[in-house]
Amino acid sequence: MDSQAPSTMAESRCLVIGAASGIGRATAARLRASGAAVTGADLPSATWPGGPGASLAMDVTDPASVAAAVSAAVLDMGGLDAVVNCAGILGPVAPAAATSVEDFERIMKINLTGAFIVSQAVLPRMAEAGYGRLVHISSTAGKEGVVNMPPTQPARPGSWAWSSHSPRSSPCSASPSMPSPRAMW
Ligand SMILES: NC(=O)c1ccc[n+]([C@@H]2O[C@H](COP(=O)([O-])OP(=O)(O)OC[C@H]3O[C@@H](n4cnc5c(N)ncnc54)[C@H](O)[C@@H]3O)[C@@H](O)[C@H]2O)c1
Repeated sequence: MDSQAPSTMAESRCLVIGAASGIGRATAARLRASGAAVTGADLPSATWPGGPGASLAMDVTDPASVAAAVSAAVLDMGGLDAVVNCAGILGPVAPAAATSVEDFERIMKINLTGAFIVSQAVLPRMAEAGYGRLVHISSTAGKEGVVNMPPTQPARPGSWAWSSHSPRSSPCSASPSMPSPRAMW
């Protein structure tokens, strides 16, 4: 259902989560350079190099915080055509035996539950609008297996699995994406 799709990138209204740093920062810059309206979101504690620009505080592990920031982005930009969720952490690089349950659960909460919470806040709005694109940045760590990343590995296929499910229950798209272009879905 793409009837409400913006016809050019310059008409697109995008929310980039985890936009203060790394892939999120680069994604926001690239979208802005294409003429899109972009709101960045990140943790309240985030440092924004070069200033925050249009930015919102959001913690993807907190449903109320995500819902409030998504509402503010919609209000600011007059709608929401695309969301790129780059929020995530690598976590400790250590064997499973040296990884605490607390660390495991913390990483799962950000990398897996966070993707669920973002989708829950975004997809109904996109369905109502008749168009939307949601991308969760993931990792090849969950696909190819990487030593000493016991918490991050299982979180990644989890977010792919349920991202794949989302389009079936909604007319919008949710796509897992990996930083390696070779591994892009
Ligand atoms: N950079 C890589 O080479 C690479 C490789 C594989 C996977 N990844 C994954 O891609 C994602 C982005 O990586 P990156 O290199 O840009 O990392 P990064 O640390 O530079 O940026 C991540 C951003 O997410 C934010 N963030 C963390 N927890 C958050 C939360 N609870 N709520 C909202 N924002 C939160 C951080 O403040 C930060 O600004 C991560 O999930 C990472 O594991 C990155």
